[in-house]
Amino acid sequence: MPDLPTGIHKKRLLGNTGIKVSPICYGCASAYARDLISDQTAIELFHRAYQLGVSFFDTGRSYGKAEARVGQALKASSEIRRESIVLATKFDLQEVGGGHAERLDLDWARRSVETSLKTMGIDYVDVLFVHEPNPLALNDDNLFSFFDDLKRQGIVKASGVNTFDAEVAERVAREKLLDVVMLNHNIAVRRDETIQKLYNAGVGVVAGQALAQGLFLNDLFKVSVKKDVWYLMRAFGSKASRSLFFKARRYRFLNKLKGVDAAQLALKFVLDNPFVASAALSACTLEHLTRDVEALDATIPQDALIRVKNS
Ligand SMILES: NC(=O)c1ccc[n+]([C@@H]2O[C@H](COP(=O)([O-])OP(=O)(O)OC[C@H]3O[C@@H](n4cnc5c(N)ncnc54)[C@H](OP(=O)(O)O)[C@@H]3O)[C@@H](O)[C@H]2O)c1
Repeated sequence: MPDLPTGIHKKRLLGNTGIKVSPICYGCASAYARDLISDQTAIELFHRAYQLGVSFFDTGRSYGKAEARVGQALKASSEIRRESIVLATKFDLQEVGGGHAERLDLDWARRSVETSLKTMGIDYVDVLFVHEPNPLALNDDNLFSFFDDLKRQGIVKASGVNTFDAEVAERVAREKLLDVVMLNHNIAVRRDETIQKLYNAGVGVVAGQALAQGLFLNDLFKVSVKKDVWYLMRAFGSKASRSLFFKARRYRFLNKLKGVDAAQLALKFVLDNPFVASAALSACTLEHLTRDVEALDATIPQDALIRVKNS
């Protein structure tokens, strides 16, 4: 049996929370949340991630089947103890689909968290993110008292926001509003300055979409299963995703670098930032998942990494 990866076990502190996370956070979202893979595959992926050393998992109430699959994976494993993993989930400010609301609907949010716990069969969440709020929602004190209440009750260990908006992240850093920020950061969309500010403020940083949705990879156009069609449609489905697509395609040269796995190099770029606690990525094949974890131990030529950093 080949040696298990070691780099994944070098846990990093999630800001000032006292929580230690694996440098890769397995994202149970996107294709993982849909019928593009079977429940059985989803469970197998979760278990394999854990066996490979991933101890940080991210999901969300509005992510289709994802929480239910996480719950099934936890239930089906005699190996995974609740305390041995860090589990993050998200709630929307208002009903699902109202993620960009400006104010918290307290009853809605309470019910959402209760449903998350029940669906996953757990009694606490390590990190609870408010899901892509409108920046104005940060003016709503009820949001922060909601988190405080949940923390007092022991239902939540750390508060956070999941956002694509650097302004939201920077305000959290400036005013120390929350414990953790998940912000998209990858080869194509870089947030180094914001990440440094968050780190300096003691806010834990999770780099979201760490593989830039795989949009720089040549494989993007190799369509063999339903999931691949969905990825292609997602790439063109909104203005934001088209923008990411065009930014990411500038990194197609990664596919041509000799002796380098393009996805591993892209991931190394994110993990090379010492202020990032964990890189959130999704991989819905065992091969991809294994290679992602192995990236931590892979020897990536420095010149390739420098080329990515400078481009
Ligand atoms: N605000 C934010 O920062 C934010 C927002 C949304 C989500 N997130 C988090 O970020 C996570 C990841 O986001 P995402 O799924 O949109 O994008 P991603 O992880 O950047 O990219 C996923 C894509 O990369 C492919 N892939 C993974 N490993 C690979 C490998 N070794 N070689 C080739 N291709 C590989 C996957 O294909 P296969 O599926 O075929 O393996 C999939 O197409 C989410 O699950 C969530 O936790 C953060």
